Amino acid sequence: MSNINDPIKKILVSEEQIKERISELATEINRDYEGREILLVSVLTGSFIFVADLIRELNIPAEISFLFASSYGSGIVSTGNVEIHAGKGFEPKDRDIIIVEDIIDSGRTLEKMQAYLKEQGAKSVEICTFLDKPSRRVVDIKAKYTGFEVPDEFVVGYGLDFDYKYRQYPFVGVLKNEYYE
Ligand code: IMP
Ligand code: MG
Repeated sequence: MSNINDPIKKILVSEEQIKERISELATEINRDYEGREILLVSVLTGSFIFVADLIRELNIPAEISFLFASSYGSGIVSTGNVEIHAGKGFEPKDRDIIIVEDIIDSGRTLEKMQAYLKEQGAKSVEICTFLDKPSRRVVDIKAKYTGFEVPDEFVVGYGLDFDYKYRQYPFVGVLKNEYYE
């Protein structure tokens, strides 16, 4: 029987490292937003695991909404076309919002998302990203909270996919070349 980890060439961030870092991020957020109520806006699909782990470490009142953003088809190169879809009843007006994202690459997704939330009347909008690839940035976007910086390699796991697959790994890894083909 083939092993589920067969496609992985190397692990960049382990399950233990992720756990520890999320607890540190939550400590910062708990401190920065003390006495306030926040709205976590999770960018689907990639951030679903990260936001689930993060929200359980928060000890300030936190609500959650999901926005759908897509800038990729099944390839690994950004098209630059970002579409945002909100569910019914999404109400960002006058809220202190933290956008929770899986990874910042070009920055285009978050640029669109941030502009959209401000247009909708959000009181404040900050970014919490699980991963950051600063070397790939084409627009000026900075996260207030960053889990890990990663090199310019396409990564999967802990919510991140390639061609809709590999989100289920509890770690962040790089696929063997033949799996990108
Ligand atoms: P950006 O708009 O170029 O910053 O792209 C951000 C989106 O592209 C992320 O939310 C991811 O869904 C996807 N993405 C960028 N880099 C990777 C990667 O290395 N692995 C998986 N998805 C990625
Ligand atoms: Mg994404």
